[in-house]
Amino acid sequence: MVDKALGGAGLRGQVAGETALCTVGTTGHQLTYRGYGIETLAEKAEFEEVAYLLLRGHLPNVNELQDYKARLKSMRGLPEKLKEVLERMPKDAHPMDVMRTGCSMLGVLETETDFSQQDDRIDRMLALFPEIMCYWYRYSHDGVRIDTLKDDESIAGHFLHMLHDKPPKELHRKAMHASLILYAEHEFNASTFTARVCASTLSDIHSCITGAIGSLRGPLHGGANEMAMAMIEGFDDPDHAEREMLAKLERKEKIMGFGHAIYRESDPRNAVIKRWSERLAEDVGDTRLYPVSVRCEEVMWREKKLFCNADFFHASAYHFMGIPTKLFTPIFVTSRTTGWAAHVKEQRAKNRIIRPSAEYTGPEHAEWVDIQDR
Ligand code: COA
Repeated sequence: MVDKALGGAGLRGQVAGETALCTVGTTGHQLTYRGYGIETLAEKAEFEEVAYLLLRGHLPNVNELQDYKARLKSMRGLPEKLKEVLERMPKDAHPMDVMRTGCSMLGVLETETDFSQQDDRIDRMLALFPEIMCYWYRYSHDGVRIDTLKDDESIAGHFLHMLHDKPPKELHRKAMHASLILYAEHEFNASTFTARVCASTLSDIHSCITGAIGSLRGPLHGGANEMAMAMIEGFDDPDHAEREMLAKLERKEKIMGFGHAIYRESDPRNAVIKRWSERLAEDVGDTRLYPVSVRCEEVMWREKKLFCNADFFHASAYHFMGIPTKLFTPIFVTSRTTGWAAHVKEQRAKNRIIRPSAEYTGPEHAEWVDIQDR
């Protein structure tokens, strides 16, 4: 038997490789990207600055940031063949299947044939993922073929503009920058590890990111913010929320948006997104979802010492910005593509194929019996 304390269960506590990208719960700041605390980055930086930090190795200066944003902007515009694929995907398709297929199709059309092309391919994905999500959503739900070539400078603004057909207000643009920064990177989580395993076979970048999207699709990973939204929407007021939460705990249900595999007392991303959710609630005059969310947080801590992870207050924050629930996890994809891709680059720079061993638990020796005699 693998010793649980040594990390046999879900590989907890096992060091599976090296990274210079991120620390989770091991420094003064609980979460850092290349040494910078997440609180500072979410308060002071734009998402593109953080993308540059992760992908190019240092914070950009004014000119570098300007050039990088101009480069990402110049890479917008969906290939016609990708639009055709998106138009064939039905309204009730799982949005993460749309993202996975969109990424894979991009890999068919713009295959990375040499690792020297990696930065081009990565930046193109960053430019196109919001378009893939909005083009499919608006075509399948509203019957319109949107023009994705908007003039917004940032990925955050571009996404909100395409979704709502008008340039976003400043508050929403800033909230989206903060959200994308919070979701950008998180060390060896399941989807990032998927990307690194794929990269270690020397596969192409689109395969690495497509695999990572598949891992993020699961409710124990990326899907939690959507399920948190479905839950809080069902509560009429904080007292109702409290009664229902207690009943769920009594039934031993998993409550999405709470708990974490590494953090033990709090998720540093929660304080940031909770403040944004509060500001956005004030902005829309919400008197239900924010107080309901706060009560859920109180009940979970009081009853189980379980805390909100990054996903819980993201649900209400996105909702207050008018973002449809089914796009929550695809937004996560756009953001995390920076972290995934930075890990792929890091893996490629010092690669050895990832191939762990298993503790065998099957029969010691099985006697062959011919098929007609079984
Ligand atoms: N709701 C109810 N109970 C929970 C819980 C939750 N969200 N998260 C953890 N628990 C329980 C576990 O079932 C476990 O109970 P047990 O000892 O009786 O089996 C106990 O708390 C300790 O779990 P822990 O070891 O801390 O969790 P994990 O590392 O196995 O799993 C998650 C981590 C994130 C998968 C888990 O907390 C979870 O499923 N959360 C909900 C999904 C989610 O929000 N995912 C996004 C993560 S950023």
